[in-house]
Amino acid sequence: MKIYIDSSDIKEIKEINKTQLVDGITTNPSLIAKQNKDIKVILKEICKEIKGPVSAEVTATQAKQMIEEAKVLQKISKNIVIKLPLTFEGLKACSHLTKKGYKTNVTLCFSVTQALLAAKAGATYISPFVGRLDDIGESGIELIKDIRKVFDNYKDLKTKILSASVRNAEHVKEVAKAGSDIATIPPKVFHELYKHDLTDKGLKIFLEDWNKTNQKIS
Ligand code: E4P
Repeated sequence: MKIYIDSSDIKEIKEINKTQLVDGITTNPSLIAKQNKDIKVILKEICKEIKGPVSAEVTATQAKQMIEEAKVLQKISKNIVIKLPLTFEGLKACSHLTKKGYKTNVTLCFSVTQALLAAKAGATYISPFVGRLDDIGESGIELIKDIRKVFDNYKDLKTKILSASVRNAEHVKEVAKAGSDIATIPPKVFHELYKHDLTDKGLKIFLEDWNKTNQKIS
């Protein structure tokens, strides 16, 4: 499963990218707003650091304006992916942009039928929101499983499942088990993924024993 980082904070992105485990980035208007910086400056900095896909979201609500915004965003860098909301207008824009050769990420997906329509509109990625479904007492993981099943039924659907609104390490494990192609992960959750108490305890014991030898590896 590919790992994207769900952030607009270049410092956090650069720090995690030192592991060379970052396959891409997703942003959204709320994440951009947190930075108090021009959207183009933020996206340029991110695209300079990350060579994989970087999702940048349109803010228009009508297809015609979404397409105009997509043209502006695409000029920032060739690895920009146009993020579109899963609305009637968003689907219209997705079909149009797909035909023009743009890569798209259709976001705010909460049902299998929404995912199916986005895939038929040629979306490169569909972003089902796991955490926000859990928030209303439904199962985000079941949605990922169901979309996987439907996409596997129809080999002509090439859209990648990009699990979003991932809130914890358990979500990451479960979307991987469900066959999600990608998980987009907030920085805080990324740092939860490699931590284990037994790793810390084990390392402490190894180093105490090693120090007793008075040796150095040099
Ligand atoms: C994904 O593309 C979204 O930006 C993000 O994952 C939403 O997460 P949230 O529901 O935690 O805000």
